[in-house]
Amino acid sequence: MKYQDIIEKMTIEEKAAFLSGKGEWQTRDFERLGIPSIFCSDGPHGIRKQAGAGDHLGLNASLPATCFPTAATIANSWNTELGEKLGETLGEEAMAEGVNVLLGPGLNIKRSPLCGRNFEYFSEDPYLAGKMAASYVRGIQSQGVYACPKHFAVNSQELRRMAMNSVLDERTLREIYLTGFEIAVKEGKAKTIMSAYNEVNGVYANENKHLLNDILRQEWGFDGIVITDWGASNDHALGVAAGSNLEMPNPGLDSARELIAAVESGKISIEDVDARVDELLDAVMTLYVNAQGKKDDFDKNAHHQVARNAAAESTVLLKNEGKVLPLKPGTKVAIIGDFAFVPRYQGAGSSLVNPTRVETVSEMIGSYDLQVVGTSRGYSRTGEEDAAMVREALDIASRADIVLYFFGLNEDSESEGMDRNHMRIPQNQITLLQELGQANPNIVGVISAGSAIEMPWHHYFKALLHCYLNGQAGAGAVLDILTGGVNPSGKLAETIPRRLEDTPAYRYYPSQERTSEYRESLYVGYRYYETAQVPVLYPFGFGLSYTEFEYSGLTVNEDGISFTVKNIGEKDGAEVSQLYVRLKEARVFRPNKELKGFAKTFLKVGESKTVTIPFDDKTFRYYNVKTCKWEIEGGNYEIIVGASSADLRLFGEIAKEATTDQLPYEPSELPSYYSGKIQTVENSEFEKLLGRSIPDGHWSGQLTKNDAICQLYYAKSGLARFAYRRLTAIKKKADESGKPDLNILFIYNMPFRAMAKMTGGAVSMDMVDGIVELVNGHFFGGLGKIISGYFRNSKLNKKYESKIK
Ligand code: BGC
Repeated sequence: MKYQDIIEKMTIEEKAAFLSGKGEWQTRDFERLGIPSIFCSDGPHGIRKQAGAGDHLGLNASLPATCFPTAATIANSWNTELGEKLGETLGEEAMAEGVNVLLGPGLNIKRSPLCGRNFEYFSEDPYLAGKMAASYVRGIQSQGVYACPKHFAVNSQELRRMAMNSVLDERTLREIYLTGFEIAVKEGKAKTIMSAYNEVNGVYANENKHLLNDILRQEWGFDGIVITDWGASNDHALGVAAGSNLEMPNPGLDSARELIAAVESGKISIEDVDARVDELLDAVMTLYVNAQGKKDDFDKNAHHQVARNAAAESTVLLKNEGKVLPLKPGTKVAIIGDFAFVPRYQGAGSSLVNPTRVETVSEMIGSYDLQVVGTSRGYSRTGEEDAAMVREALDIASRADIVLYFFGLNEDSESEGMDRNHMRIPQNQITLLQELGQANPNIVGVISAGSAIEMPWHHYFKALLHCYLNGQAGAGAVLDILTGGVNPSGKLAETIPRRLEDTPAYRYYPSQERTSEYRESLYVGYRYYETAQVPVLYPFGFGLSYTEFEYSGLTVNEDGISFTVKNIGEKDGAEVSQLYVRLKEARVFRPNKELKGFAKTFLKVGESKTVTIPFDDKTFRYYNVKTCKWEIEGGNYEIIVGASSADLRLFGEIAKEATTDQLPYEPSELPSYYSGKIQTVENSEFEKLLGRSIPDGHWSGQLTKNDAICQLYYAKSGLARFAYRRLTAIKKKADESGKPDLNILFIYNMPFRAMAKMTGGAVSMDMVDGIVELVNGHFFGGLGKIISGYFRNSKLNKKYESKIK
């Protein structure tokens, strides 16, 4: 052990207390031992350091920081150098604000477009998500701050996120839900990782030995610390034994007592505790040294410019009929849409940034060479009809050459803590669009939305820009693209399907009760649409430019591929080229083709460059559930270079030897998986894939401490059911007001145990047991436990505190 000398001096009380947080964001310090405290903060697209009262939901204000485009946006740049630059900039701000661990990036897979946190995640594809995440991690850590990729793992649903069991087969786990983390750890060298709230195959992520020990530490060689998501610890002792170091945020000393009791009873060993303490000491000591002599400020203007460049490079041009864009100098434009005045540039929840400034299209338009015939908000964000505003919008639209329509998802549609239940934008925005179409056919749409939306109205537009959530400097970036100062080069990091019903997990998402069954298996995003031949609106990897690119000269060898890309248009630009691999007539089922590499190439007009994309350990592998190893199926692999997943330009081939002759599946038992038509997989087939029976996910009438508060409708106690009805009513009211109440959402989806994990020691697990007994109808027994638990807890806390002073 590296810190043997300190560990030898530590009492068991000090060790146990060290392994959980001291407040919302900090670790415990021990003056006697010379152990300092370190500070963690969100977030992935801007620092959210709370100077005053801390909360993990973005409720209380934080110090001003640059609000960069969110991960869903940046992924569209397909540019890992940009990711690294953003990471550096984030790391610099973190350091200036005294933050040692930056809680991000988030890289869960976009299993369904409905996940409320998709705006925080990179992609539906693990390779792209992993490469982008690794680039952030490298950038952040280059500044002496640790990055914390999250949420490990299979956390693709917000509903009941803390009381939900993700049920999936080992191959899907490895190939889809872990590969991104593997890249972030192995290539990004992440020094911390955040364990997710949910269970994975029946074991909480934070106490899942398979995830934390076998895969993360043993297979991937992770040598950093595992931090729980805020309130994600269930059994702290099992967490420590599995490889989790730091329980956050502030469980008080009850958790520490739980750990000591576990050592005393032999449930876990003192060696496990010492190993976790040693790893945590290494992080704390290193981070403390890194922060010495740090700068206290950062260049706000320079960082704003980084945010602007990032936004511009990540914007996706979906449509440009008759080359209506870029706008010619002097074009008469009407600026319509509330988003032009009050931009939607970030999402809600723990990633909420207090920006250093926010630019708007309505304020910035004057500095561009355009004639503005008028501006109008056009529709109201909260959905009310406003005839006068509509008249005003139609009037200016009819007098313009081009209508610039700014629209998208409102704040209430996407947030941590809730999932969407449809993919539509508000109806009043669509109604206005239809009327604008009558007044002026030349409409250019500018979408702000953190995730995929249905676009049945897209034919109303001559041109369409998808900006995702593009940060505080997004307005300037959009105007630069509209006027041609910047040539768009973003490509979609997720598919835009035609309708929700077409999405692979449509029937399985979100989970109805305790389990979320990943029956669609590997068929996420384009992997599904292409294999099952479901038409989509805009495919994965798609995005237009103001110039054109020609591909030629593909060569394939053992190390990788190279080919030439030439800019044959009239504007300098950048092209994202994608490497896909396909095995026709595979004997192990697999998607039609999969992304295995990409490159972004900047080219002046007429310029051509040779692009090289190396193969790596992931190019041909699949996870074999029989040999329990990554294997290669033998055969002739098709090597495809595409400008998108649907625009394939160059084809080659390479033969590969099989690494095993043991085939994992009997094809006749898995017909849906062999055809890719996985929208209605029967129980028996899913069980074959899982290799075990499907766990019963139904709630029983008896609630336990791991059931979510929103299950109180099962409560036997009338009082508890009344509390449930009140909570539901408050939640409904907040949802309807257009501003969901994150606190209520959190409580609603939170299991009872979290009361002991997030109250700084005020509530102990004994008291939680009492609460659960009470809601199950044993009023007096439960109340008795709560009261006696309260007094016992206060006494034990005081005694413990005196031992670690
Ligand atoms: C979120 C994490 C976040 C943490 C701290 C949790 O609710 O899931 O992503 O880092 O809070 O704010």
